[in-house]
Amino acid sequence: MNLTLKIWRQKNAQDAGKIVDYSLTGVSPDMSFLEMLDVLNQQLIDKGEEPIAFDHDCREGICGTCSLYINGRAHGPDTKITACQLHMRSFKDGDTIYIEPWRAKAFPVIKDLIVDRTSFDRIQQAGGFISVNTSGNTQDANAIPIKKENADKAFDAATCIGCGACVASCKNSSAMLFVSAKVSQFALLPQGQVEATDRVLNMVKQMDEEGFGNCTNTGACEVECPKGISLENIARMNREYLKASLKA
Ligand code: SF4
Ligand code: FES
Repeated sequence: MNLTLKIWRQKNAQDAGKIVDYSLTGVSPDMSFLEMLDVLNQQLIDKGEEPIAFDHDCREGICGTCSLYINGRAHGPDTKITACQLHMRSFKDGDTIYIEPWRAKAFPVIKDLIVDRTSFDRIQQAGGFISVNTSGNTQDANAIPIKKENADKAFDAATCIGCGACVASCKNSSAMLFVSAKVSQFALLPQGQVEATDRVLNMVKQMDEEGFGNCTNTGACEVECPKGISLENIARMNREYLKASLKA
């Protein structure tokens, strides 16, 4: 396959940045999208040019770092996969592909296609945990009976990989889907009850301080989420927030 790539290049956070055109020939349909970028980068390095900076780690849909906006969609044209799981067979010979970073005030561009997502880390640190005494007397988790339906929903919420596609695809740059998944994975389990009030209040406060927008229920986040995190989680977080506000 021969492709025209239009890629966002930005030297650093201060640089204005711009789209730069590249031609790439001999791309195999079996290559992953990131392997295709590797090939382009090797060609740039061989020519003595600066390779394109992009985030990646696991390359198997687990770490959530491969934050690429491809042809106007977070993680590209396929659904329920990350950019690293996208293969070139999803494109046609002669295609033009636009590759950009996530765009959101709370995710500033660091370089080229890499954005700073430490705002997500700070939201997690504000309450996305349970405090457990790990002195050796920890109770076996299986000893606590949990309703199957709740266990399944908590597990589904816990599959959020913190990629940020929900923010990038939302016209308001809202982080509600991410935060609600992190709140829900504990709100549904007995282990999460002790810190439930502080958790939701602190995580929502941090989310607002980071500059994420409000949720207006358009549902783009759910459509583009590679893990299929449901909008139900946002409804649950709103209920948890209301309950916590009345208690506080
Ligand atoms: S909710 Fe989905 S899109 Fe948002 S960070 Fe989690 S996995 Fe990514
Ligand atoms: S590189 Fe880890 S999810 Fe894509």
